[in-house]
Amino acid sequence: MHAAITGWGKCLPPAVLSNADLAQFLDTSDEWITSRTGIRERRISHVGLDELARVASLRALAAAGLAPADVELIVFGTTSFQDQAPNQSSGLQLALGATRAASMDVNTACTSFLYAWSTANALIRTGVVRNALVVGGEVISRFMDWRNRNVSVLFGDGCAAIVLQATEAETGLLGEKLGCDVGGRGSLVIEGMGARYADFSRRLGVTNWIFEGPEIFKRAVGGMGQACADVLAARGLAATDVDLVVPHQANLRIIEAVAKRLEVPMERVMVNVQRYGNMSAATVPVALVEALEEGRVKAGSLLLLPAFGAGLTWCAHLARWGDRVTPLGTSEAQLPPCSQSALEQVRALMRLRDGEAG
Ligand SMILES: CC(C)(COP(=O)(O)OP(=O)(O)OC[C@H]1O[C@@H](n2cnc3c(N)ncnc32)[C@H](O)[C@@H]1OP(=O)(O)O)[C@@H](O)C(=O)NCCC(=O)NCCS
Repeated sequence: MHAAITGWGKCLPPAVLSNADLAQFLDTSDEWITSRTGIRERRISHVGLDELARVASLRALAAAGLAPADVELIVFGTTSFQDQAPNQSSGLQLALGATRAASMDVNTACTSFLYAWSTANALIRTGVVRNALVVGGEVISRFMDWRNRNVSVLFGDGCAAIVLQATEAETGLLGEKLGCDVGGRGSLVIEGMGARYADFSRRLGVTNWIFEGPEIFKRAVGGMGQACADVLAARGLAATDVDLVVPHQANLRIIEAVAKRLEVPMERVMVNVQRYGNMSAATVPVALVEALEEGRVKAGSLLLLPAFGAGLTWCAHLARWGDRVTPLGTSEAQLPPCSQSALEQVRALMRLRDGEAG
């Protein structure tokens, strides 16, 4: 038994924050951000993660021709879950009316969607469920330290989902290599979120990001490069067999370094980091959906999806696309209108952080 990808959908909030917007309140420039990261703009969400996920999921389910009531499992990959308990996925289950589903969250930072896919794939392949909705989504803007230019220029909000269904054809995930370079655990830490800080002496959500960019860069390239080599070797395949690499989108230079290591030309690499920045768990599914929309995924395409995140978790997934690259149906689901610009939203978040709400 295998788990084919039969549906896909994304939901990006409409408000665009450009590099020039950031330069209005940070000592930074479009030139610095573009040359060091490849990022030109990112999205800022006017709604919570629950709403982005609801819309992305309804689009993915329509593409698969499945009703919410058909869904047997929801696995939600995210680091920005809205409540400690209950989990994010059960909130999505309620919003969708997916009453028959089991629901779980997976948090491995930026690799969360891919680890969620592994989890759902395993439960389908072992016969526990016959289908699953796998979501990767983040609203990072709410807990960003906007005045810290080392991190605030890098991240953005977004969400996407895929639907997996049991099949006897050898499609979907063919293999994955998962790991965690725990020696780098201290190189990306978000202080101020989580039970460690619930000591009533500080305001939860007022974060301090510990972020050693060059150290993460080095470990990310090494981890993703090795994971790709291992997952291909386990299947007796070479990088030349891969039709499209859909990597985690943190930094264009990291993507180029991994491609160089794999000896894959950039024409066979999906890149959209310039439009969205690093959306953590959402980057890979959004890039996958956009690769489909752009006709870059064909029937039978072999896809390689490497990623890394805080932990430092790393992974590479190898997937064979099935026969269908067009959605079976579309959904009318939309986000509510957004009345503020991205810059206005960010300024409001900074005021909240300063305790000057209003
Ligand atoms: C963060 C990153 C873009 C920095 O690029 P870099 O080329 O390594 O740059 P450095 O860290 O050496 O910083 C160079 C200078 O730019 C400055 N700088 C940092 N952020 C800046 C910004 N937004 N605007 C302008 N200058 C900035 C630094 O202060 C430093 O100044 P100094 O030389 O006077 O000390 C890069 O290391 C990176 O992408 N790392 C991976 C991080 C990542 O993706 N994490 C996500 C985990 S999922």
